[in-house]
Amino acid sequence: MISSSKPLVSAPLSTRLPRNPPPPRSSSATSTHSSQSPVSSSLSASPSPQKKRKSLPAAAPPAPGPSEPPRPVKRLRTTSAAPAAKQKPKKKPKAASSKASSRATSRNETAPPSPEPLYCSSRSRSTSLFPPTLDPLPNPVRERRWITDENGDPGDHHLSSEAVVKRLMKKYKSYFKNPNDPNDKSFEPHPTNYPVVELEYPNSFAAERFILLAPKDKDHYNPIMDLERTLYTIVECYVPKEHQATFGPIPTDTLTEAVSPPPSPSPSPSPPRSSLTSLSSSVSSAADRLPLLRAVQRAIHLQDGPLFLMAMKRVNSALQALKYPALSITDPYAPAPRNALMQTVEGWTQTGLPEPVLMRIIEENYQRTVGPNVPSLKHYEAFSSTVYGELMPSLAQEMIRITELKEDSLFLDLGSGVGNVVVQASLQTGCTSYGIELMPHPARVARDVVDQMKVRCRMWGVVVGEMELEEGNMLESKRVDELIAKADVVLVDNKVFETSLNEALRPKFLDLKEGATVISLAPFVSSINARLTKRNVDDISAIFDVKERPYHSGSVSWGNNGGTYYLHKVDREGYSRIKEKFETMHGSSVRPARSSRSRR
Ligand SMILES: C[S@@+](CC[C@H](N)C(=O)[O-])C[C@H]1O[C@@H](n2cnc3c(N)ncnc32)[C@H](O)[C@@H]1O
Repeated sequence: MISSSKPLVSAPLSTRLPRNPPPPRSSSATSTHSSQSPVSSSLSASPSPQKKRKSLPAAAPPAPGPSEPPRPVKRLRTTSAAPAAKQKPKKKPKAASSKASSRATSRNETAPPSPEPLYCSSRSRSTSLFPPTLDPLPNPVRERRWITDENGDPGDHHLSSEAVVKRLMKKYKSYFKNPNDPNDKSFEPHPTNYPVVELEYPNSFAAERFILLAPKDKDHYNPIMDLERTLYTIVECYVPKEHQATFGPIPTDTLTEAVSPPPSPSPSPSPPRSSLTSLSSSVSSAADRLPLLRAVQRAIHLQDGPLFLMAMKRVNSALQALKYPALSITDPYAPAPRNALMQTVEGWTQTGLPEPVLMRIIEENYQRTVGPNVPSLKHYEAFSSTVYGELMPSLAQEMIRITELKEDSLFLDLGSGVGNVVVQASLQTGCTSYGIELMPHPARVARDVVDQMKVRCRMWGVVVGEMELEEGNMLESKRVDELIAKADVVLVDNKVFETSLNEALRPKFLDLKEGATVISLAPFVSSINARLTKRNVDDISAIFDVKERPYHSGSVSWGNNGGTYYLHKVDREGYSRIKEKFETMHGSSVRPARSSRSRR
């Protein structure tokens, strides 16, 4: 069954808007008290090329699968900010050289995959880690226009922070209070009448509402911390230099982490909930003069609700002034001034998408779409290929860089889970991405992940590459067969795939084009360091030039240990040269090459 992401935005709204945008929809006056895929024209437009079955040797040795099936983890794995540094890996990841190549003639056998594939689907990424890579990679900046032509109105299907917390209200408690009125209930949880604030996003008409409550479990999604991080990213990366002083220095971390919420007030009879907009009480004129981010942090530190609302009101006014600059009063014919935050995005053509923006968008989208589904994603069959796990964004980022994906590349994720790497590849590079997932639940979540990523990118004012999803079996999908011949990079997160699945996948790689790369967490070749031996000369995997790279502790969701991943680059020319030499050396002892497919 093929199910593809459905478009959320029927038509670019920008075409319906006057050149000079009207004032924002909502006042953003901080506090409100609540009452076959669209994709791939580019993919499917071109006819599927004639599949040239290379006459590759048969008799492939068994595909190395994970040495032992993984034990699913029962406990929740929390990823609070400290653990990567604090938790001591049981053993250091093997210092695999990124230069180690199968072209080497040494016969060192491949180290077996790390024996710690303890998959755990549960992770809270509200405090996720982005550990530095072991071996920092060059990040070639490719000239690309990042700015979207669409406006940022998130529309009716937007999954906002407010919507996420509202559904889980019972898991939240008060964070702010009103220091001037102990009976003020307006900062307490309530099914409908909860404390909420709006934050302006960079693109015109883009804003999101955040419920001002703290999670009872500190590892769960924290909307106040999320708001802080988003605000800092907007100021750091979008606010033009000449306006930075208004906002003041960017705090290095969120304060919300450091401050524990006040105890829940007793449920004793109390006066009616007072208005959140009664700000005057705790607002001093001194606070009014603080740089904006300092004022926000001070209010969070003091857990002073009215003060926080006042600070956010100032923040939103300042952002609106940049987004909707005033028309010239002297020249009525002067062109409408442009959104200054979006002008910053214009400037990224040469420099690339700033990393904090990339990571913030990924994180925000994950928290709203995957986060609430984490408990149900744990329902997988133990010891099977469908055990769920994820690459963390830092490792996916490294893989995307090292394989040099770019705007005109095609990326496939075979076993795409919730689509986390699919959306990251398309956001990070603008490439076209395709993911296939067998299990209905992660496949359904992935559709939300893709749909909401499109909305979120518009809010941040950036374009994302095309994305296509399929729910189905990678071994049976016609779409996989069609796309594999065009793919530049194929990810197979096969750490726990059964040997039979890894083996069945290998013949598909025969159709890869020269230079394409397969990334996997368990190798598809029997020996990394000896590309051609008597034993594997007939093996389809001999077309690969394989490099291994280490990954860090904290790079995958299923365990704290580091490990190794494998980059298999299709190099048929190299294979022919080596094979020729090999045959000269071994004479008639080498069997004629045949396609592994012919054996099926
Ligand atoms: C470890 S997850 C990887 C998720 C994501 N690609 C990542 O690396 O973060 C592997 C996924 O492959 C899926 N899978 C296993 N066998 C499959 C098959 N035959 N066809 C499609 N997906 C499959 C599993 O259900 C699982 O969600």
